[in-house]
Amino acid sequence: MVKKCQFMIFGATGDLTYKKLLPAIFSLYKEGELCDKFKLILIGRRSLTLEDYLKDLDVEVTKQLAFHNFKDHLTYHQMDFSKQEDYEALNHYLSKENWVFYLATAPRFFEVISSHLDHYGYLDESAGFRRIVFEKPFGINFSDAKKINKHISKILDESQIFRIDHYLGKEMIQNILLTRAYNSFIEMLWHKDAIDYFEIVISEESGVHNRAGYYDGSGALKDMVQNHMFQIVALLSMDLPESLIPEVIQEEKSKILKQIKVMHNLVVGQYQGYLDEKGVKADSETETFVAMEVHVDNRRWKDTPFYLKTGKALKDKYAQVVVHFKKMSSVSENLLIIQIQPDEGIKLKINSKKPGVSNEIDNVTMDYCHSCLKYGDEPSAYGRLLLDVILGDKSLFASWDEIESSWHAIDKIEKIKPQPLIYEKHSDWHENLLIKKGWYKYD
Ligand SMILES: NC(=O)c1ccc[n+]([C@@H]2O[C@H](COP(=O)([O-])OP(=O)(O)OC[C@H]3O[C@@H](n4cnc5c(N)ncnc54)[C@H](OP(=O)(O)O)[C@@H]3O)[C@@H](O)[C@H]2O)c1
Repeated sequence: MVKKCQFMIFGATGDLTYKKLLPAIFSLYKEGELCDKFKLILIGRRSLTLEDYLKDLDVEVTKQLAFHNFKDHLTYHQMDFSKQEDYEALNHYLSKENWVFYLATAPRFFEVISSHLDHYGYLDESAGFRRIVFEKPFGINFSDAKKINKHISKILDESQIFRIDHYLGKEMIQNILLTRAYNSFIEMLWHKDAIDYFEIVISEESGVHNRAGYYDGSGALKDMVQNHMFQIVALLSMDLPESLIPEVIQEEKSKILKQIKVMHNLVVGQYQGYLDEKGVKADSETETFVAMEVHVDNRRWKDTPFYLKTGKALKDKYAQVVVHFKKMSSVSENLLIIQIQPDEGIKLKINSKKPGVSNEIDNVTMDYCHSCLKYGDEPSAYGRLLLDVILGDKSLFASWDEIESSWHAIDKIEKIKPQPLIYEKHSDWHENLLIKKGWYKYD
């Protein structure tokens, strides 16, 4: 374990810190996974006491904070990201130790914060590591991402840069490669001749809530497809390297992201009432739903559709990958279902004899529940990734090459994106539409 590590979160009064980062750090602390001596400086724009700051935390978490003396490790610090002089005061905390700077902010602040940290010498690693975590999205389009990357690459070594996509820290996302690598019967069938198509779904029940200000400038394509969904496509379709070394995995994923070809049958939707959400422009055409077919343009996956579907205010909250194997006869197709959330597991749908005297076939499910095997309080995706930052392990972080290629694909889609269709909240409105477009071939 690294003995001393300190965190500084920029954007600590934001939704991400309250809902994900602080609970993840607390949980690591409680499980004894954090460094022996650790400090967390929470940076926000408003002038608050620590007590005021903590009032907005979930009640359950707040109770625990007191119980475990976690609070003693926290400091709230007020500053404005854009004022260089405000950074001088940070020197007070920046002891000669290891520091992780977490930019839980919109990407427009990445350059200014890193520049000012550099200006005061806070990124110098002579007395301990200095690493910066850049929250997703990394940029708002390809040229913006390129500009940010060029800038940070001038002041930071690549080993100091952690471009986070928390989906990569999820158990079942990590399990995609391992399931492929360590099950010969799966990997031997992992090509266009055996697989008909892939379906990747991230469905959310909630609307934009208090994140409309951010979401309206982004939409489902940039918020979910550019990062989480393209990463899943890459993990499903990349060639398995001989060893699962981080750099090699990143390289293989990056090759796939360059080969992503977007087909023109795009479905874009916006839920009814979205325009009334606080922070949404009155005439906004931002999509809260997107479904699309992409292909991976190589020999292994020639003409194999990857159907991606994601949206807000849909009927259910879940994320999963369904691998549809080619159908041999009139019986149901075989499916491999990788459940990402809320259930974590793998299901295999096979055809088997019905019990009794006849030879009738039934489509049955073999069900592996991954979450059932968890012991204790395992780190959340954010917790796991924060530990990796401390350890300097970049396996579950995105390389610039990956980000560059995925933005290229998104920029192309933005150009052909139609106006959104309006859908009723929590409905199945899109299903018939997608069937018409050739999805769900065997239903
Ligand atoms: N929320 C999530 O679940 C989630 C998940 C994945 C990724 N992300 C990404 O993470 C980033 C942050 O998300 P969020 O939802 O936490 O956003 P947010 O709620 O809008 O929070 C942004 C934070 O930045 C602070 N800030 C803005 N301008 C500032 C300035 N000039 N000086 C100092 N502080 C300033 C805000 O302070 P005030 O409170 O004073 O405005 C707030 O603390 C976004 O890029 C988002 O896409 C969020």
